Amino acid sequence: MHEDIEEVLFTEDELARRVEEIGAAITRDYADAAQEGIVLVSVLRGAAIFMADLARAIKLPVEMDYMAISSYGNGAKSSGVVRILKDLSSEIEGRHVIVAEDILDSGLTLSYLLKNLASRHPASIAVATLLRKKTRAQADIDCRYIGFECPDQFIVGYGLDYAERYRNLPYIGVLKPELYS
Ligand code: IMP
Ligand code: MG
Repeated sequence: MHEDIEEVLFTEDELARRVEEIGAAITRDYADAAQEGIVLVSVLRGAAIFMADLARAIKLPVEMDYMAISSYGNGAKSSGVVRILKDLSSEIEGRHVIVAEDILDSGLTLSYLLKNLASRHPASIAVATLLRKKTRAQADIDCRYIGFECPDQFIVGYGLDYAERYRNLPYIGVLKPELYS
């Protein structure tokens, strides 16, 4: 896989350090929220690796739950079509929800998801995104925790795929454009 990467953007060490920092911030911010219950929600499949690491960096009891929504298919561009493929297993009413996202690009996926989750009346909702792309147009989403800003290029690794490949790369890098154009 390494030969398909044009440039490494975030090394394994940099990712680990940043995830620890976000976990520490959540631990501080939610210290008084633990009695209502904290549910970490990850959007499959890209955010599962980030959430698995983030959950262990949070020093409070948290539940982990998963949703799958379609957005990209196998391509590199957002289709704008969002559909729930798998819903949460737990009830979130009255509980504190933290949505762990891998990457915020157009924001279409997340803005749909947040509206959907808000309609279930949680005590609060916050977003922790590992990456936020610097794009021209992005839905206005309030992300409480952001790992890194990244350039508007197609990137893979640490959960992020191209056509289901590269998710298991331990770092994040830019995929050589000739591989998808
Ligand atoms: P959005 O709806 O445009 O914000 O797209 C968000 C989703 O698209 C992310 O959760 C990723 O699954 C996927 N995505 C966006 N940009 C990239 C990328 O550069 N590499 C891999 N997946 C991406
Ligand atoms: Mg995703």
